[in-house]
Formats: sequence, C-alpha cells, structure tokens
Amino acid sequence: MKLYDSFASVYASGDYPNLSQRMAAILPGVMKHYKILTNNRKKLLDVACGEGSFCVEMAKNGWSVTGVDQSEEMLRLAKHRAKNDQVDVKFEKQDMRFIDYHNEFDLATCWFDSLNYLISNNDLQSTFNSIARSLKPNGWFLFDMNTIYGLAVEWQKNRCYVRQETKDLLELHRTCYDFEKNLGCIKITWFVKVDDKWEKYEEKHIERGFSIAEIESCLEYAGLHVVDKVSSLDPISPLGSQSGRAWFLTRK
Ligand SMILES: C[S@@+](CC[C@H](N)C(=O)[O-])C[C@H]1O[C@@H](n2cnc3c(N)ncnc32)[C@H](O)[C@@H]1O
Repeated sequence: MKLYDSFASVYASGDYPNLSQRMAAILPGVMKHYKILTNNRKKLLDVACGEGSFCVEMAKNGWSVTGVDQSEEMLRLAKHRAKNDQVDVKFEKQDMRFIDYHNEFDLATCWFDSLNYLISNNDLQSTFNSIARSLKPNGWFLFDMNTIYGLAVEWQKNRCYVRQETKDLLELHRTCYDFEKNLGCIKITWFVKVDDKWEKYEEKHIERGFSIAEIESCLEYAGLHVVDKVSSLDPISPLGSQSGRAWFLTRK
C-alpha cells in the first residue's frame, strides 16, 4: 500500500484538514492584501489535495477547481466529499513531480507539509517546474512547508503522543530527526476497534527539511518569483530563524 492509502480515513476523521479549511477561509483576505487576481476568480490547481476539503470550499466560493494527489484513497474521499457537498471538482491521480498541465491555471496551491514529502532537491525542483508549467503567465503559486527548525526542533519537543483517541480509534505518533540528512520521521501507529478486537495499522512518514535558500533557489530556477515569504498568513507575520512553518507567495 502507498503512503496515505490506509491512513486516509484516519486523516479525514481527525483535525488534519483544519489547516486547508482555514486557508480557504482566509484566502480572500490574503489575495486582497497581495493584490492577487483582483478582478475575478478563475482556475485553481490544488497540488497534493488530500481528502479535498480545500478544493470543495474553493469550488463553493466560485472557483473552477482541479485537485491532484498521488493517493487513490485520498482521492476517493475527496470525490465523495465533493459529491456530498454537491460541487463540481475535477480530481486526478498525479504525482506532483510530473503534473501534466500546461498554461492552464491562474492560481496553484499546495498546503500542509505536502512539499516536505519530496526527499531530494531534484524532486523539489521537478515539482516547482511542473507547477510553473501548469500556470498561465503571471499565475500565482502559494504554499507552505515545515522549516528545518519546525522538523528538527518543534516536532522533537514531544516525541511520543496520542493524536486521536475515540471509543474505536487510537492514533499514536512517534517522531525522530536525522540531522545529517535533514529528515523528520513520524511513525504513525493506529488501532481500530472492529467488533470486539483492535486491529493495528502503521505508516512511516518522512519529511525533508529544506533551507529557505534551497527553496528560493529551486523556485527561481523554475521561473517562480518570490513575492513574499512569511511565518503566518493569519496574521501576516515575518519569517524568523525560529519559525516552524514558512509560507511562500510566488508568481510566474
Ligand atoms: C499532509 S497531506 C496534505 C493534504 C492536503 N493538502 C491538506 O492540506 O489536507 C500530504 C498529501 O501529499 C500527498 N503527496 C505526497 N507526495 C506526493 C506526490 N509526490 N505527488 C502527489 N501527492 C503527494 C499525499 O498523498 C497527501 O495527500
């Protein structure tokens, strides 16, 4: 099974989609602040869309939305969510390193650590290249990433914790960090109660920490110009050496 396939339903039932739902709520204010696409709402590509919360909210706000992800199970949940909420969203299985669109979108987004799943500079470069290709001229690409500080320090402050606990689900996280390779690891173990027995599942998620300079260099090479980089979009706050997450606003 691929990463996120067996974990998808646990992800969707937890508070994980909160970040992207929050992004849908604050995006109009962010776009106004940075004067992004001031006159109308057009075509949006959400990269690594997961279980589709952000795509569905944006479609409700009048955008024409395409979501891509590599996990079939996440995409199945996303399609289900769109159907339930009676909105039209195109969901496609695509690896973000090789997105197959050209000059189509006004805005691309990628939220909640998704880019940290790319382990090498080549993969990050190839992803930025494919996103730049998919954007129309002057199109925008907004995203967040965990910083090295976030993965190496914040993640390690609590190295073993219960993330979800209900009467039929227990989700445990254990973290570690490889300082030589800048890799953060979360071993997710969860137990689901089926009849009277607990079934055990496990996934190991590895996230790469990239320096801000490495991210900027890959963006520039892809033809994406950094308009701003901040530690929070709500409220907009400067990026510092102890920021756990970096938000980038870039333009083709
Ligand atoms: C932490 S989840 C974020 C999902 C969604 N953006 C959100 O905010 O809830 C990371 C997502 O990245 C996807 N992903 C990881 N590597 C990918 C790749 N190479 N191509 C496409 N999707 C990928 C996973 O399948 C998963 O859905």
